[in-house]
Amino acid sequence: MRDAAPAQDNRVHLKDYAPAAVTVTHVDLHFRLDPLATRVQARLSCERRGPGDMVLDGEALETITVLVDGVDPGDRMRIEGDRMILTDMPDSFLLETEVQIAPERNTTLTGLYMSNGMYCTQCEAEGFRRITWMLDRPDVMATYDVEIEADLPVLLSNGDELQPGSWRDPWPKPTYLFALVAGNLVATSDRFTTMDGREVALNVWVRPGDEGRTAYAMDSLKRSMAWDERVYGRAYDLSVFNIVAVDDFNMGAMENKGLNVFNSRYVLASPETATDADYANIERIVAHEYFHNWTGNRITCRDWFQLCLKEGLTVFRDQQFSQDERGYAVQRIGDVMNLRARQFREDAGPLAHPVRPESFVEINNFYTATVYEKGAEVIGMLRRLVGDDGYAAGVALYFERHDGEACTIEDWLACFEEAGDRDLMQFKLWYSQAGTPRVAVTESFNDGTYRIDLKQTVPDTPGQTDKAPMHVPLAFGLLDREGAEIRETEVFELREAEASMTFDLPERPVLSMLRGFSAPVILEFEQSDADRLTLLAHDTAPFTLWESGRALAKDRLMRALTEEAGFDAAWLDAVAAVTTDAEAAPAFRALNLSLPSEDDLAGSLHNAGYVPDPDRIYAVRRAAQLAVAERLADDLPALRDTMAVPGTYDPRAEDAGRRSLGAALLRLQTYLDGGKAARVAYDAADNMTDRMSAFVCLLEAGDESVAGRFEADWRHDRLVMDKWFMAQVAHAAPRDAVGTAERLMTHPDFDGRNPNRLRAVIGGLTGGNPAGFHAADGSGYAFLADWLLRVDGANPQLSARMSQAFDGWTRYDADRQALMCGALERIAATDGLSRDLSEMVERMLG
Ligand code: TRP
Ligand code: ZN
Repeated sequence: MRDAAPAQDNRVHLKDYAPAAVTVTHVDLHFRLDPLATRVQARLSCERRGPGDMVLDGEALETITVLVDGVDPGDRMRIEGDRMILTDMPDSFLLETEVQIAPERNTTLTGLYMSNGMYCTQCEAEGFRRITWMLDRPDVMATYDVEIEADLPVLLSNGDELQPGSWRDPWPKPTYLFALVAGNLVATSDRFTTMDGREVALNVWVRPGDEGRTAYAMDSLKRSMAWDERVYGRAYDLSVFNIVAVDDFNMGAMENKGLNVFNSRYVLASPETATDADYANIERIVAHEYFHNWTGNRITCRDWFQLCLKEGLTVFRDQQFSQDERGYAVQRIGDVMNLRARQFREDAGPLAHPVRPESFVEINNFYTATVYEKGAEVIGMLRRLVGDDGYAAGVALYFERHDGEACTIEDWLACFEEAGDRDLMQFKLWYSQAGTPRVAVTESFNDGTYRIDLKQTVPDTPGQTDKAPMHVPLAFGLLDREGAEIRETEVFELREAEASMTFDLPERPVLSMLRGFSAPVILEFEQSDADRLTLLAHDTAPFTLWESGRALAKDRLMRALTEEAGFDAAWLDAVAAVTTDAEAAPAFRALNLSLPSEDDLAGSLHNAGYVPDPDRIYAVRRAAQLAVAERLADDLPALRDTMAVPGTYDPRAEDAGRRSLGAALLRLQTYLDGGKAARVAYDAADNMTDRMSAFVCLLEAGDESVAGRFEADWRHDRLVMDKWFMAQVAHAAPRDAVGTAERLMTHPDFDGRNPNRLRAVIGGLTGGNPAGFHAADGSGYAFLADWLLRVDGANPQLSARMSQAFDGWTRYDADRQALMCGALERIAATDGLSRDLSEMVERMLG
C-alpha cells in the first residue's frame, strides 16, 4: 500500500516535464520465481543525455545489491523512499541490481503478482517499479532480454522466444509494456501470415479446462490483424503473438508487447456460458489491445499526460473495426450511448478533466471515459475536418515520422496540419478544455428563407472557467415535409460563440442535425414532434433517425417526471411502428425500445434545474415501459416468434440483433404476464444470452426459485457466477437492493479480493440499481463507503475506481447530499488511505 500524503506534495504537472538526464537503452532481466522470495537481477545499459543525477523508481523492493560498472558505487548511491539517486555517473555505464520481491503477498494486482498459482505482471502505468529499480517512465525506451527460472511448464515474456524461458524483444519499449507470465497453462494455437510475408504463431493461453472457450478470441485476433493491414496498412512485427487469460485483473486487458494479458472475462466464451454482449466485448477488446501494437507500442507516449495519444486513438480504431465487422449504425449508436452514460456524466461532475489533463496525483485515476471515449470522439472530429484522405495521409505521416518514438499530442496534430493543410489551433482546445459543450439550435422560416441559429457555450468545470469557443464540426442534412432528403450531409464548422446558416427554400424543411453524432456536444434543440416523427420515419442517416425516437421518448419521460404528464397515443404509436417494422434491422428496433436510463434522466433533470428523485424516476420509467407493453400487447407473442433464431448459436451480429429484440419484447411481456413467458423461455434457452434475458425478467417479476436454479446449474463456473451475483443486485426491487448485496457478500463463493466478483456486486448496485443505491436512508452509501475502505488497503486501484459511483452527489436533494458527502468525508478522514482513493475523494468533495 502506498503512503498517505497530502495531495499537493506529490502532484505531477505537465508543465514540469523534463527528459531524464540518464536514459536506459537495454535491459537484461533474470527472474528466479518464488511466491515469497522472487529474485530479480537487472543489468541496465545506461547512457547520459544531459547533466544531472540518475533517479530510478522502486517500490516495495528489498534491495540486495547495486553495482555500477561492476563496483559498489558507495556514497554516489542513495535510496530515499521510492527513489534511488545515483550521482556523478559517467557518460555510459552498466547498472546492476538484485532485488527480492514477494508476488504471493502482492494484492495490488500491479507489478508481479499471483493469480490461481500463476505468476503474471501488470506494469501500466507505474507497476514496473514494483519489480525492479528502473526509470519507470514511458519516454525511456529500451530493448529487453529476459530469462525466467521456475519449475513451471509455461514461461512467457515479450518478443521472440530464444529458448524455453529465454526471451528477446528487439523493439525498444517503455517499462509499462513489459510482461512476464509463468504457470501451468494450455494454449490454443493458430498462425497468421502478414502482408509482408512474416509467419506469426498465435497462442491464446488459459488454465487447463478453459481451452474449449478460446475460439472466438482467436478468431477476433486474426480478423484484427487482417483489418489493421487492410485499413491502416500496419502489419505485425514479431514471430509470435501471445494472449493470456488471468482471473484476477484490475481492468479489461493490457497491450504488453507481443504478450497481451487479459481479464479472463474478455477471452473465454462458449455459447452456454457467454452472452452476445460478452462476445462483442471480446472482439472489441482483442482488437483494441492488438491495435495498440502500432498506436501505443511502436509509437508511445512521452509522458502520462499524453495518455489519450494512444488510448483515444486506439478506441477510435477499435470502434471503426467494430463498425466494419458488425454494421455502422448499431455500433455507432451503442458507442454514443456509452459515451453519454459514462463520459458526459463524468464531464458534468466534480471529476471533470480535460482529454489531456494538466496535473495528477495518481495517474491510474486518469484512465477515464474522458481520456478514452472522448479522446476517441476527438479523433473522429479530426477525421471529419481533414477528410478521409487527409486523415489517411496524416496517419501515414505519423507512423513514418514517429516510429520508435515517445510522442505528444502536438506531434500528432502537426501531422494533420501538414498532411491535411489545416490550422488546428482552435481544434486543439478539445484536448485542454473540459466539460461537454452545449450547442443551442433555433430555426426560423420567412419568405422563402430558412435560417438556423447556433450558439455554443462551454460550461465551467473544476479549475476551469470562461472558456473559449470550440471548433465544432456539425454534420447535418435537410428533409422536406414528406421526408425526402433535399440536402445531403454536409459539415458546418461552428467556430464562434454564435453563428447562423441560411437557405433559400420553398417551404420550411426538417432539420437532421448532428448526423453520426459528429461532435461530443449536448444539442439544445426543441424540435417539434412532427419533425421528429418525420425524421424517425424517413431520415437517411441512421444515427439521427434513432436520436429522433430517443428525443421523443426522453421528452415524454421528462414531462411525466416534471408535470406528471401521461404517455400519449401518438408517441406510443410511433414506438409501436418502429418495433413492428419488419423492414428495419432487429438490433435497431431493440435500441429504439430501450428508454433513456435512470441515470440519464437524473442528469437531465438536474441540468433542467430540477432535483431528481431516484424512486420517482424508477417508477416513471417502469410506467413508460408498461404503457409501451400495453400498446404492443396484441403483437408481442407473434413478434417474439419472428425473432426466434433457428439453428445452433452463432455470435454474429445479425443473430445477436434478433436475440436482443426478442429479449426486449420478453421484458415487455413480463410486464403483462408476471413472468409466464419468461419461465418458458428460461427453460427453453440453449445459450447464455437467452438464459440471461429470461433470468433478469424473472428476477424483476419476483420469481422466488429462479436464482437457486441458476446457481445449482452454474456454481462451478466463475464467469457465469459473476453474472448471477450482479443480476440479483441489479434487478432487485430498489428497497431490497442493498440487502441483496449484503446477503450475497456472505455467500461462500463471494471473494472480495477478486475484482470481477467484487465489481459484480458493487457495480450491480451503484450502476445497475440506481434507486437502490440512492435509498433515502443512506444505506447504499454506507455500504459502498465500507467496502471502499475494506478494499483500499489491498487494492487501491480498485477502490479508487469504484469510488466514482459517488461523483453524482451534487445532483440530489439536501438529505441525500448530506449522506453522500458524509460518506465521502468519513473515507477522507480514515488513516492510511491510499494515494489513489484519497485523490478521488478529495476531488469529489471539491
Ligand atoms: N492500456 C490498457 C488498455 O487500454 C489499460 C490499462 C491501463 C490497464 N492500466 C491498466 C489494464 C492496469 C489493466 C491494469 O488497453
Ligand atoms: Zn488501450
